[in-house]
This record gives sequence, C-alpha cells and structure tokens, in this order.
Amino acid sequence: MVAQIDPFHAIAIGVEAHRLEAEGRSILHMEFGQPSTGAPAAAIAEAHQVLDSDPMGYWESPALKERIALLYRERYGVVVVAEQVLLTCGASPGLVLALSCLFAPGARVATARPGYVAYRNTLKALYLEPVEVDCGPAERYQISAAALEAMEPAPDGVIIASPANPTGTIIPADEMARIAEVCARRGIRIVSDEIYHGLSYGEAAHSMLEFAPDTVVVNSFSKYFSMAGWRLGWVVFPRTLVEAARARMGNLFLTPPSLAQHAGLKAFDCLDELEGHVANYRRNRELLLAALPALGLKEIAPPDGAFYIYADVGHLTDDSLGFCQKLLEETGVATAPGIDFDPVDGHRHIRISFAVSTDRVEEAIRRLVPWFRAQRRVV
Ligand SMILES: Cc1ncc(COP(=O)(O)O)c(C=O)c1O
Repeated sequence: MVAQIDPFHAIAIGVEAHRLEAEGRSILHMEFGQPSTGAPAAAIAEAHQVLDSDPMGYWESPALKERIALLYRERYGVVVVAEQVLLTCGASPGLVLALSCLFAPGARVATARPGYVAYRNTLKALYLEPVEVDCGPAERYQISAAALEAMEPAPDGVIIASPANPTGTIIPADEMARIAEVCARRGIRIVSDEIYHGLSYGEAAHSMLEFAPDTVVVNSFSKYFSMAGWRLGWVVFPRTLVEAARARMGNLFLTPPSLAQHAGLKAFDCLDELEGHVANYRRNRELLLAALPALGLKEIAPPDGAFYIYADVGHLTDDSLGFCQKLLEETGVATAPGIDFDPVDGHRHIRISFAVSTDRVEEAIRRLVPWFRAQRRVV
C-alpha cells in the first residue's frame, strides 16, 4: 500500500493569504518560518559575479564543505572533517538522506509531538514508523531522556530538534547528555535537526555531536543564513556512514545548485548582517511576548530560539485550521494551524512566526489585540 501523506495546512493558509493580497488586502505573512530579509548582500553580489564566469555544472564546493566542518570546531568544539559533510538542497532532502541511511523500512523512530510536520510525513514516505511522544509544557515540548528510557520496546531512532519547530524550545546541555547516554545504551540512533542553530535568545543551543559523536546532524541555509529559496543545506554523517550517504546522494539528489553553494560560502563572511537579523527577531519576540496577556494567551511555550510563538487557543476554538482562516480573513494576519505540528492536540494551538520586520510585528499586534478580545469560544 502506498504511504498516506498529510498536506501541510499552513501552505493552504499561505495560498489564501496571497490570494487576498492580490485582491489588494494588506496581509502580514506570519504563517511560514521564512525570514523576510533575503540572502546577505555580499552573498547576492557573489552570485551575480559567478553567474557570468561559472559553467554551473554539477558541483560540490570543496571550500564550502571545509567551511562547514570548521563551524563545528569553532562553534561546538567538535572535530568534523570535510568528507563527513554532504551538501544538500536544504534540510528537507537532508532528512531523507539521513533517515534512509540509518533505518530499514518498518523501523520505529521517535519524535516529539508537537513537532515539525515533515518528520512524521517523511518517515511515513520512507515506510518508517513515526512514534510520536506526547510532550507538553511540563517537558517544555521536548522529548526527554526519561521518555526515551521508558519506551518499550526501545525505538530504533529518534529525531531531536533544538531549538524546535513549532515551539522554539531548546534542550539544555545536561539533558542532551542524558539523551545521548540513554540512546547509546539502548541502541537508539539519533538524527539531530539543528536548522535553528544561531537563532537563540538566551543560552546558545548545543550540537548533539558534542554528546553523541555518531549523531547524524541536519542543517540548512534557510533560517539563520536567510537563504530559504536558494535551497542549500548539509548533513554531517559519522565516518562509517559517509559511503552509504554519498551513494544515496548521487542517486537521489546529485548536487545542490552551484550558484547557491557560491553564495552560501560567501554568507559565512556576513555574520554582522546575519546577527542584525537575530537582534531583530529578539525584539519581535519581546514585543509578542509582552502582547500575549492583552491577547488573552497564557499557555505558550517560551521560545528560547527559532522565531515562533506556539500558543494554546483552546479557550477560543477546537478547530485551529478554521481559526487561522477566520483570523486571516478578518485581520489579514496569516498564521499556521497547530494541526500541522500535532495531530492530537494541535486543534487548539496556532503558530505565529516572527521572522518578519519589527514594524510588521507591531502592526500584527495592533490588529490582533481587538480581534482576540472580541472572540468568544466557538463550541
Ligand atoms: C525543523 C525544520 N527542519 C527542516 C526544515 C526544512 O527546511 P529546508 O528544507 O528549507 O532547509 C524546516 C523548515 O521550516 C524546519 O522548520
């Protein structure tokens, strides 16, 4: 039987938002986790320049792999060599690559619920079995070592995401160490999605590689580097899996765009500009957190990182998709319904992305406060 894959409902909200915009409505796009800033200026200039001189064939940039390997030494103090780095068209194919290297069909892979919609669906597409672990506010919406310890039988693998989508929560270093210990003892393979690294507002996130050297790490230029549409990311494999990974990469995806690789390498020289975006997200986060009481939203995950607020709107609705549609129609503010991230409790949550400019966040708050105040619970 062919795997049944659910749609990403935020896409439907995005389509409707653009339709309304084309009709002349003022729309605030807070439905996707997509920086509104575009690639760093020097990365764009580099792309313009190489376009005239590079034949743009299939290519893997040796310099970019070296630069990414260096990031692990500089940022986390772990040794990664360039051969362990595979360049991909973003974290999405990176996940396919990681999961297909690690697991045979039927393998059980644990994920936190709520969690990024594609974990469940990518697992299903590869005929792997997602085992969603209910993670509420008490667990700060993150899978814990205790939860992995308690699973019987032990899952074959786990996907860790810190900072997480949709909640932005970070797993503290000591808990990551405990997760690594449980996984090593119980033979659970770890995939760590580190796509939101660089975007944290308190303590920086740790790489799972610091605690479990056999981890397969997925990352991307889509978030911190603000280059989502360039479709560029990477996966770090343990040496034992590099050959298997390269074989899959060559057959399934070949290489990411050459143009994006040139620009991506340049983006590493643009940290001042990129840190400016982080400062902007920090302001946006504070503005939204300060506005939540006026919206009547009390149950939220405190976003340590990424650029999302995941809020419980259960006092107003039990249909998050309908709620987001109504919110969009009546205020022009586009948000993502919780059902994308949590098929069980997501009907009572929405995700608001603050990866937009601060004046847009201020305008969104101006529109949201009276609207939320006017809402009555729909039963
Ligand atoms: C947690 C997480 N992982 C992976 C992705 C995929 O990102 P990309 O394929 O653009 O690198 C996203 C996109 O939003 C995400 O939120």
